[in-house]
Amino acid sequence: MATILITGGTVIQATGETAADVLIDGEQIAAVLAPGSTLLGHDLAAGVDRVIDAAGKYVIPGGVDAHTHMEMPFGGTEACDTFETGTRAAAWGGTTTIIDFAIQRSGEQVEDGLAQWHRKADGNCAIDYGFHQIIGGVDEQSLKAMDTLIDEGITSYKLFMAYPGVFYSDDAQVLRAMQKASELGLLTMMHAENGPAIDVLAEQLVERGKTSPYYHGIARAWQLEEEATHRAIMLADVARAPLYVVHVSAKQAVAQLAAARGEGKNVFGETCPQYLYLSLEEQLGAPGFEGAKWVCSTPLRSRAEGHQDAIWQALRGNDLQMVSTDHCPFCMKDQKELGVDDFRAIPNGIGSVEHRMNLLYQGVVTGRISRPRWVELTSTTPARMFGLYGRKGVIAPGADADVVIYDPNGHTSIGLQKTHHMNMDHSAWEGFEIDGHVDLVLSRGAVLIDDGAYVGRKGHGRYLKRDLSQYLN
Ligand code: URP
Ligand code: ZN
Ligand code: ZN
Ligand code: ZN
Repeated sequence: MATILITGGTVIQATGETAADVLIDGEQIAAVLAPGSTLLGHDLAAGVDRVIDAAGKYVIPGGVDAHTHMEMPFGGTEACDTFETGTRAAAWGGTTTIIDFAIQRSGEQVEDGLAQWHRKADGNCAIDYGFHQIIGGVDEQSLKAMDTLIDEGITSYKLFMAYPGVFYSDDAQVLRAMQKASELGLLTMMHAENGPAIDVLAEQLVERGKTSPYYHGIARAWQLEEEATHRAIMLADVARAPLYVVHVSAKQAVAQLAAARGEGKNVFGETCPQYLYLSLEEQLGAPGFEGAKWVCSTPLRSRAEGHQDAIWQALRGNDLQMVSTDHCPFCMKDQKELGVDDFRAIPNGIGSVEHRMNLLYQGVVTGRISRPRWVELTSTTPARMFGLYGRKGVIAPGADADVVIYDPNGHTSIGLQKTHHMNMDHSAWEGFEIDGHVDLVLSRGAVLIDDGAYVGRKGHGRYLKRDLSQYLN
């Protein structure tokens, strides 16, 4: 395989930044060298297959998006990015690893759900991928099936305190699963919203004729995220299990996590770009049924109440540790439109897998986070949290050569007619103007994005058997 030398760039890692050249040999990083280094007096550039000039640019480890839902069945339809289209879009945006969710529902076998996910992804991905396991029905059988997950390379699983009748687990089921996870060393991921209470509020709203997309967020009140987050923390404490709360959007839920961490509890929180940039007020102001494009769970929160600012603060201060997308795209036509008369029938989810690195970089531009923190939140901590660190999340000898060259002086316009490679008929990010640009993307030494062109291939991406989380205790 080819040798590549990336010269003249600033290598940014979670630990800091430095001017350095990066030598790649085949699929791996061979060396990180002082700029202009020679080898036994020989010019390195003369001996490699390709030299990439990164002068004035950042050289970062490829993004790790630890929360995606390609081809996910939801509300009678299916998320419209396949593993092929979704991983290609991810590559365009500088993400070189995804961790998707294999699904088991009540009454189904965990093994069947996992086998189905392998069939969906195998041979189709542009980038490397792993799986978490959704346990949507905690019973004797699924608890037993958890024993086999680690051998499958799955070291984390997700439970839902929301969506009664679909994925929901009650407190007894949650506790049992957490106890099992604690025994095995699995990391519990929690969708922390009080689903039964949400369903009551949603029904009452619809009865009063409040059926538009905005009321999705009213029914999913922040109190019900805060309450479930607190309950999840306490159940995890009793089970002596580490806890990772997904898609945190309410500042009160952040406060619960921060307080628990302050007491030494082993809890973590992830947020998503939508909770940093989009708001309930904008959803209310969207014309017609347009607000449906922003229907996701947890929902968008009120800007006036200060949730977005609080979430940025939490990312800066490490009350939240990671940013994933929760990429779960549905088209307007025939999908979101299912809920045109009743917000409860709008499939939940936003497509963002392409834009996460760019959107988070705006936090650097506005001074909310540092450059190393940008890399830490989007690549290094996800790799550590989910057992990929060493291979992913770092530029160091022996690591996979998943490298992004990011141009801080470039520009990216997001929108359906502009930068948009996700398989959707709209963009939740239409009109966003980004300071910065993903110039070049390498996945295990293979060039995927080069000077504005996709040169990757379907099937390049490999399944990643993951190690245990580095944050178990
Ligand atoms: O709206 C969302 N988040 N859809 C995907 C399913 C989930 O809860 O993560
Ligand atoms: Zn969820
Ligand atoms: Zn999700
Ligand atoms: Zn550029």
